[in-house]
Amino acid sequence: MDLFGAFLIGYLSGSIPFGLLLARAAGKGDIRSIGSGNIGATNVLRTGSKWLAVATLLLDFAKGFVPVLLASWLWGFDGPRIQPANLVEECKSLAALGAVLGHCFPVWLRFRGGKGVATNAGVSFGLAWPIGVVYAVVWIAVLALGRISSVAGMSAVIAAALGAWLLGFAHFGPVLAIIAALIVWLHRANIGRLLRGEEPRVGSKS
Ligand code: G3P
Repeated sequence: MDLFGAFLIGYLSGSIPFGLLLARAAGKGDIRSIGSGNIGATNVLRTGSKWLAVATLLLDFAKGFVPVLLASWLWGFDGPRIQPANLVEECKSLAALGAVLGHCFPVWLRFRGGKGVATNAGVSFGLAWPIGVVYAVVWIAVLALGRISSVAGMSAVIAAALGAWLLGFAHFGPVLAIIAALIVWLHRANIGRLLRGEEPRVGSKS
């Protein structure tokens, strides 16, 4: 029940489609009919509004970060449901998985959501801040070098999974590896465009 509760908290948080809601509220229409059709910040940027994209990025980050912290408190050493360390780690991992699955497969959008990169950034910081730092550094560095959001995102999710093992957080390695595999799979259309040399750089409208 504890594990299911943690997963549900993560899923419900992750399933809030901020990109779709913000774009609609700002009068930009349905983000799913623009650019790549994705509901994430990269595609929101294609509406022409940087602020809307930044807001989407921050909110998508928060919906991964908050439920992992909440699980940490609810099932952690200071919270109301004190548990052994391994169960705390399992609850955090399931909240993390739930948040990313919620973003990628939101029940409210008939399970057609985003690709999980920003939400997984929040998840990574929530699980252990050094993993989050690896995620952020790789994401920003690859983005700065090539200005291709999908390459930066995929690099960051893989780096976070590897970083968990290398930095002494091997207990979070399995969930981050599962999430990384899922996120790379969700980028299969981007990978196809990359191979054809058609993947747009950040800032272009297509
Ligand atoms: O986080 C999503 C990004 O990696 C790719 O977005 O819209 O170019 O498919 P998009």
